[in-house]
Amino acid sequence: MTGSNQTAIPSTLYPVSASFAATAHISSREAYDALCAEAQQDHAAYWARLAREFLTWQKPFTQSLDESQAPFYKWFEDGHINASYNCLDRHVQAGLGDKVAIIFEADDGKVTRITYSELLARVSRLANALKAQGVKKGDRVVLYLPMSVEGVVAMQACARIGATHSVVFGGFSAQSLRDRIEDAGAVLLITADEQLRGGKALPLKAIADDALALGGCDSIRKVIVFKRTGGAVNMVAGRDVWLHDVTAAQSEQCAPEWVSAEHPLFLLYTSGSTGKPKGVQHSTGGYLLHAAVTTKWTFDLKPDDVFWCTADIGWVTGHTYVAYGPLALGGTQIVFEGVPTYPDAARFWRMIEAHKVSIFYTAPTAIRALIKAAESHAEVHPRNFDLSSLRLLGTVGEPINPAAWEWYFKEIGGGRCPIVDTFWQTETGGHMITPLPGAHGLTPGSCTLPFPGIDAAVVDETGKEVPWGQGGLLVVRKPWPSMIRTIWGDPDRFQKSYYPPDFGGKYYLAGDGAIRDAETGYFTITGRIDDVLNVSGHRMGTMEIESALVSHPLVAEAAVVGRPDDLTGEAICAFVVLKRTRPTGEEAKKLAIELRNHVGHEIGPIAKPKDIRFGDNLPKTRSGKIMRRLLRVIAKGESVTQDTSTLENPAILDQLSESN
Ligand code: WTA
Repeated sequence: MTGSNQTAIPSTLYPVSASFAATAHISSREAYDALCAEAQQDHAAYWARLAREFLTWQKPFTQSLDESQAPFYKWFEDGHINASYNCLDRHVQAGLGDKVAIIFEADDGKVTRITYSELLARVSRLANALKAQGVKKGDRVVLYLPMSVEGVVAMQACARIGATHSVVFGGFSAQSLRDRIEDAGAVLLITADEQLRGGKALPLKAIADDALALGGCDSIRKVIVFKRTGGAVNMVAGRDVWLHDVTAAQSEQCAPEWVSAEHPLFLLYTSGSTGKPKGVQHSTGGYLLHAAVTTKWTFDLKPDDVFWCTADIGWVTGHTYVAYGPLALGGTQIVFEGVPTYPDAARFWRMIEAHKVSIFYTAPTAIRALIKAAESHAEVHPRNFDLSSLRLLGTVGEPINPAAWEWYFKEIGGGRCPIVDTFWQTETGGHMITPLPGAHGLTPGSCTLPFPGIDAAVVDETGKEVPWGQGGLLVVRKPWPSMIRTIWGDPDRFQKSYYPPDFGGKYYLAGDGAIRDAETGYFTITGRIDDVLNVSGHRMGTMEIESALVSHPLVAEAAVVGRPDDLTGEAICAFVVLKRTRPTGEEAKKLAIELRNHVGHEIGPIAKPKDIRFGDNLPKTRSGKIMRRLLRVIAKGESVTQDTSTLENPAILDQLSESN
């Protein structure tokens, strides 16, 4: 277990801003405590109250939580609901049809505004088109799309007809796309001719063609192609159709398909410590509830806010805080196609100024990269821009180092905007531990306290809560509405991964270590306790990268570990044994490039190892187990001081330490 021996971050507390609290939805620590007490007193009734207040039900539920098949918990199951109705129709019916739902800024800077009425019409037309293509309630639809209005429309259109979407991030390879299509058994794929990011076009359709040609995707009957750039594509007759063609004649009315609250809204594949990525299955009602409640309370979203979450719809953050949360509340948000460094590293600051963004949510990696750019190029420094529209900042995806937090607070927030450091996971659906900005003082590096109704705790291996100030395992002791329902097609793996027998099968094991501050009880996440790496806020399984490496004909064996990196949080470091003699010098450099590209081809560019070291062998115990602990030390460039007497081949450590 890593992370358990770390000490708590000293509590340099920034008190709650009185002016922020004055108008906040949750405006004091007392208000927060009262909500926690309500949940404590009757957990199921608390969530039922919120489900009635935040969501519109076609048929009300009669039971809140069903624990009869724990850990396969169910929420609001006999209630009927539609996510798209809750995100669109009800706002239009309430007179918000002309309110801007999405301000889309393209890679080249072109801005388009879409109102709630327009969004509803577009979603309905695509929903009708999907039905015309034979998609039915419960079918899976894979989306391999750029960050776009069409991406959000496609997700909402699936939700409207009760189809389960599974978005695959546009940076994943043909092989990864194929694996996800096959596992999901998807009947239809929606993609685009090309994706534009930072002035560069990525041929999504061509990659999708390759994915389908790899085999195993026989379930796919149709491919709908969104024309983004007009780049050349090969349309397969009988299979491929243009989005503009199939939607052209469709009606702008499409009655929502009412589904049980438990109906799977989406699958999202994410990395675990073993095996292939797993399809995390989310529900409709419980998921949407938490998306809405957290958007309102954590981000303090108000009707006149301009909200901007920079995450791509290929990740869970882009699901909950782009495609669902802000729309469920009738908010106005930015959808951005490009990257923070194009045309220069002031893109975010320029956009905040231009669109008068009031709530800004991004990843620590982006902040660190922009700090570096601002420090070396005065013209992209945020001080050149008017960021006075901002009132709240947020971060997600990985720990934020206190220095980056302070910079974000001072340079972007002008010392006036609270920062919500939100801890959560693909599996949790929404925020789990996060400041509520009108209620909690802030400590850089701490995600503060659990969201009201989330029973998070730090425990030892037996499930006993450890005293504050002592590290342990992060668990959630009670089910919550937006929790993962199962791993698609693999309920055993769900149970084993998240509800291990160690804690009587009753606690959700997050997979992270945590420690609570001895005085405030504030949580700090100390990092994954399994073989999952977090590179630039993206989750990567070491096993997946190892499998990709050994699929190269020259590779005999590979071990992958993470090492700290100033910019990306963690960097991927691979130790490789070839089927032939260990390469050195120029040959090693050439082979490292080849292997990096191979991993890029197998999984996607985000999985490319930063370091590759070649050895004659790997450090192993006499029983043949690779000593990853030692590899982590070597990856950091430190010398091994631990006892190596159990090693079969201690001399290998010197060789691996030298080879760079
Ligand atoms: C890490 C992203 C520290 C953590 C929403 C978790 C964080 C994994 C934070 C989930 C945070 C996420 N502070 N660590 N605020 N937020 N993490 O599934 O290790 O892509 O388990 O979900 O990211 O990553 P995922």
